[in-house]
Amino acid sequence: MRVKKISHVAVAGSDLEQAKVLFHDILGLDFSGSERVEHEGVTTHFYEAGESSIELLEPFSAETPVGKFLSKRGPGLHHIALEVEGLDDYVLKLKEARIVLLSEEPQLGAHNMRIIFIHPKSAGGVLIELCEKS
Ligand code: CO
Repeated sequence: MRVKKISHVAVAGSDLEQAKVLFHDILGLDFSGSERVEHEGVTTHFYEAGESSIELLEPFSAETPVGKFLSKRGPGLHHIALEVEGLDDYVLKLKEARIVLLSEEPQLGAHNMRIIFIHPKSAGGVLIELCEKS
């Protein structure tokens, strides 16, 4: 049971063309692909930054969780993801400590990772994702 690294930092609703110019053309990060996560209603676009990546979130519609986030808060930082070993043990430990989670159990996210979110009110105002390779 350990945290391996920051897996990714996710940004919601940014201009994809502007992001490509900044992250790829100017900063030189590799674009590693897009993925539709159907049950979350979001397309993810990943830029690789060393051991970690920057994940741009593009909602299918305003009715999705990220769509609602955008109408409430506007574009910006959406979540920080920590890659862990022992996700299920972490979930038990978090529940014991009465930390608020967004789901009862881990779900399948992008890149075939099992993920669970910690509510911002339990994490200093930032949504935290824990993920583990499945
Ligand atoms: Co994420």
